[in-house]
Amino acid sequence: MAKRTKLRLKPDIFLYIAVIIVIIILGNKGINAYKTHQYHKTTEYKLITIGYTKKDIKLLSKYYSEKELTKFTKDKKKNKLLLSLMENKYYLHKNLDSYLEYQDLNPNKKLEDVIKEVNIRHNYAYYEGTVKTDTTLNNEMLVNKYYYLTEEYEPDDLVTISTKYSWGTLGSKKIRQEAYDAYLKMHEAANQEGIYLMVNSAYRNYKDQERVYNTYKNNQGEAYADKIAARPGFSEHQTGLALDIFSLKSSTQSTFKDTDAYKWLKDNSYKYGFILRYPEGLESITGYNFESWHYRYVGVDLAKKIYESGLTFDEYYAYYIEK
Ligand code: DAL
Ligand code: ZN
Repeated sequence: MAKRTKLRLKPDIFLYIAVIIVIIILGNKGINAYKTHQYHKTTEYKLITIGYTKKDIKLLSKYYSEKELTKFTKDKKKNKLLLSLMENKYYLHKNLDSYLEYQDLNPNKKLEDVIKEVNIRHNYAYYEGTVKTDTTLNNEMLVNKYYYLTEEYEPDDLVTISTKYSWGTLGSKKIRQEAYDAYLKMHEAANQEGIYLMVNSAYRNYKDQERVYNTYKNNQGEAYADKIAARPGFSEHQTGLALDIFSLKSSTQSTFKDTDAYKWLKDNSYKYGFILRYPEGLESITGYNFESWHYRYVGVDLAKKIYESGLTFDEYYAYYIEK
């Protein structure tokens, strides 16, 4: 009797197992079909069907929310221009509309130049589209042909540069305290190497700058003046953080670039917080002819970063400092 029961149960177990396996298989298929159906409804899937890769979508997601991404699904194909812009190291999302507008006006310009120029506001002519600079940034404030200081702006910690280190009468050259301390250290270090630095021009208020600019303009015309002097309100000299530095041996603008003093300043000034502000070959970015003598104090940490980045201050500011 017991033997018969055993024989009858065996096929039932196989049947149960087979049924369970079929249920599992069908269930999985159903789940997968459901998942596929659901996936096809997602933004990611829709974007992939018009040509975006997962990497592209990841890049877009850096700048757009899930909801905002849906607007791209309405296009017929992926937006290659947008992705190429976003892939650039110096892409700033807040400038996207300006990049597109500027690229449209300059279709033959390389995208990296479109980005660089818009970042530093070169999509505007010089002295157009100007911005009152953020003086709360202190040593890091930018002053150039787009970022200006008001007529009243005057730093409150100007100190007199000793006539041991500057030309002119005592009291005629002033600079902000921190920049002066840094200059003294730099002077000492250069002196150790046989180079005696001398300041030719330091803080200039709005009226001083007006006189400087107008002298060039009246004598040599506006176009020439604009290459070598800033219009009032647009000069770094008004920040009290800029110095025109020569050496006892050489104080001639046209030849200072060939001196050991210039070579030393070019390679070492950043260690004391100064940067060469208008380098050779970068006139189209800085807006000024090469000035081997003009140094801007930005603080030791920032000067090192700018020096190592190989960027002008204008570019560095746009990408790393401006909010
Ligand atoms: N020479 C520089 C650009 C100035 O006038 O500020
Ligand atoms: Zn200068």
